Amino acid sequence: MSAAGISAEREHADVNVSANASFIEGARSSAPQAYAIAELVDVLAFGEDSAALTFEHMAQRCSGAGLYTALKGVAADESRHQLWLARLQQSLPLLTPDPAYRKRLRRFFCRLAHEDLRVHFARIFALDSAVCQLLASVESRCPPLPAAAVTPVFSRIRRDEARHVGVSRRAAGALLGTERGKDLVMEVREGLTQVLAYRATAFETLRVDPDRLFLRLCRVPRCGAMS
Ligand SMILES: [Fe+2]
Ligand SMILES: [Fe+2]
Repeated sequence: MSAAGISAEREHADVNVSANASFIEGARSSAPQAYAIAELVDVLAFGEDSAALTFEHMAQRCSGAGLYTALKGVAADESRHQLWLARLQQSLPLLTPDPAYRKRLRRFFCRLAHEDLRVHFARIFALDSAVCQLLASVESRCPPLPAAAVTPVFSRIRRDEARHVGVSRRAAGALLGTERGKDLVMEVREGLTQVLAYRATAFETLRVDPDRLFLRLCRVPRCGAMS
């Protein structure tokens, strides 16, 4: 796609996010689902903040023009996701501050980093492919309003994340096909599931069975399945 085409598509997506945010505003007072969405968006936004910084940093460390360009593109995607989710949050209920949960989230995302970039990419592969599955689950349950208003945003993020899965899979190289690679993927997915377990009620409210979702997340994805 040309630069103009990409720019037009991004502009269009921004307009959709604004419209959805207005819609949620209207439904907020009557929809207990709004709080569940706010909890889910809070976790996603935390991940996006971490991802935007991570990919910028990784781009600087990578040799090879192709990978550098791909990582800069991913970093730009993550910044856009940050913006979309921040806009949604403006129209969603404020969450009760939970410093202990934020500490858990921070610890989980900090532990993804590794001085060996292949290990770091394998972990990002594990995380982003899990996020794709999570978002697809929310979308597929035809959630009640106002959750229906955020599914187009989730869908856009999911499509971008699927592309990121392809980038991280290629960057991790042969490691993902080894036992160590599978262990790395499982560690990330188990860690993510533990963090998400604190939001199990939110998934139930959005008609997503948390036990089934967590079981799926704790399976190693096929390396070629998500890109
Ligand atoms: Fe993202
Ligand atoms: Fe991503």
